Amino acid sequence: MSKIERERRVWHDHEINSVSSQDLNVIANIHAKCFFDAWDTKILQQILDMPGSFGISVRRPRFDSMAGFALARVVADECELLSLGVAPECRGRGIAKALLKGSMSRAFSKKACWFFLEVATDNNAAMRLYLAHGLVKIGNRPDYYENEDGSRTDACTMRCDLKALFNRHN
Ligand SMILES: CC(C)(COP(=O)(O)OP(=O)(O)OC[C@H]1O[C@@H](n2cnc3c(N)ncnc32)[C@H](O)[C@@H]1OP(=O)(O)O)[C@@H](O)C(=O)NCCC(=O)NCCS
Repeated sequence: MSKIERERRVWHDHEINSVSSQDLNVIANIHAKCFFDAWDTKILQQILDMPGSFGISVRRPRFDSMAGFALARVVADECELLSLGVAPECRGRGIAKALLKGSMSRAFSKKACWFFLEVATDNNAAMRLYLAHGLVKIGNRPDYYENEDGSRTDACTMRCDLKALFNRHN
């Protein structure tokens, strides 16, 4: 059994898998539907090749397709969530929740104590998701994101204490 198969978890009717290079075309497609600043397969491969990087995806076995992905990187005792997206037609079914929990759990197993991310201050869906899962606001980066119309949006920096989160739940 391959490492990816061993790491596979069934989550309701979805499967959580490790991301490999073969998944990057599909992830690039989903990324382009989620973000104005789309990442192509070359950028995604560079991210995956960085030391400490990992990715997880949620697949819908019934449709044999990927519904969403998360990419993150652990450096020393910190993990940064680099990107998380769910295909528009798959939203509202708990897939982002599974991806976030899966990323935090993988980060903790890789010895990260802190989990960081940035989110656009007007991204209400993502903000609600993160606030409900142990992340707290720690800073603001003015005009961090560029929008399609050329305007800019602030980023909110968030952090989660993974030790506190997992020790509380164990
Ligand atoms: C944000 C995003 C990841 C949510 O994905 P999803 O699979 O639909 O989310 P889930 O079904 O797992 O919902 C998890 C929680 O997110 C919040 N949420 C999700 N969609 C929401 C919406 N449209 N409005 C308000 N809150 C929402 C809720 O708190 C929800 O929990 P609840 O159902 O218990 O209320 C998805 O909309 C997306 O990919 N957006 C574009 C990319 C993006 O913004 N990524 C995050 C960048 S940091």
